[in-house]
Amino acid sequence: MSKKLTLGLFGFGVVGQGLYDIIKTKELNLSIKKFVIKHAEKKRSLPSELFTTNAGAILNDPEINTVVELIDDAEAAFQVVSTALKSGKNVVSANKKMIAYHLKELVNIQQEYGTSLLYEGSVCGSIPIIRNLEEYYDNELLHSVTGIFNGSSNYILSKIFNEDMSYDKALRQAQDLGFAETDPTLDVGGFDPKFKLTIVASHAYGLYLNPDEILNIGITHLANPDIHYAREKNLKIKLVPTAREINDRQVILYVLPKLIKPSNILYGVENENNGVLVKAAFADEQFFYGKGAGGHPTGSAVLSDITALRYDYRYEYKKHLGAANLSYSDDWEITVYLRYEDESLIEKLGFIELLERHYALDFKYVIGRINLSKIWQHRDLINREGNFIAEFS
Ligand code: HSE
Repeated sequence: MSKKLTLGLFGFGVVGQGLYDIIKTKELNLSIKKFVIKHAEKKRSLPSELFTTNAGAILNDPEINTVVELIDDAEAAFQVVSTALKSGKNVVSANKKMIAYHLKELVNIQQEYGTSLLYEGSVCGSIPIIRNLEEYYDNELLHSVTGIFNGSSNYILSKIFNEDMSYDKALRQAQDLGFAETDPTLDVGGFDPKFKLTIVASHAYGLYLNPDEILNIGITHLANPDIHYAREKNLKIKLVPTAREINDRQVILYVLPKLIKPSNILYGVENENNGVLVKAAFADEQFFYGKGAGGHPTGSAVLSDITALRYDYRYEYKKHLGAANLSYSDDWEITVYLRYEDESLIEKLGFIELLERHYALDFKYVIGRINLSKIWQHRDLINREGNFIAEFS
């Protein structure tokens, strides 16, 4: 028998509205009692008595046994989620930033209070990757998890490459369609996919990681020469997060733009779609594909978590118990394309091997092998107007 859920929702934005649209089409053993929102003055599509700005109306209501947190502000979300879990309520959240920064604390709270926090909707929208990493890949040796984890930047890159649209126009469209974060720097700067990577790596390898220690460089400084270069070589540029076990003790993690060949399965992942490519020792390569942003796709993942709570589903974090010997490293060589302005940058980066150099007055680039730790060390210099870096596959 499923448990009856009485829900309190924090937030009624793109995902909250999307979730509501889906719930009202279903006969589920659940009801929504209250929405807590930030802006009381905004016109809503539901009766006004359902809305309040008082968090206590949900957190202090004993009848509400399930909290759904869909707000923007990661620190406010952490307060809501931790308070709810401590007061015996199960929680569903789609807040990747909040989960990436607070996962360890949240796991401890769940264990201490016997409550459950689910967050499938926080990573790659509709793609069920967390539950698969947790359950299906429970005993698999995972070599790597990589892919396209951000719908907005992928939408922008698709529009640029396929329709010659300008970066600014494509970004505006991604915002209008409800894909982008309130601060779109999180998307195009590679922060949002980094938060998702942190969560994915935690469920893949049992590691608790601090997102501030993981390299992310986004597509903000992509310019025409890079687009021409990629097109000429029949490549596309995608923003790709990577988690890879480099030996039985160390995992590397980073988010960088990547030049992708047509033979790579990510080449065909366009617009707001996401893809997660898992490489495992025995299952070999597996690919998950689906919409990574938007109210309904993300709402469907949130609903899947809500309905799982009717049967008291919880993540067990089993890998975290056995991960004591595994640690994070950035000592790893990769090949990159780097367009640059100032020659001194090339010296500072200490390339292990330069495979190609191109000098022209307005377009200088190198292709070379470099240690990730050097990119991390000089990330602020690289991530400036006039430079653009992309991994070369
Ligand atoms: N801004 C995010 C994206 C929303 O574009 O992927 C979904 O997490």
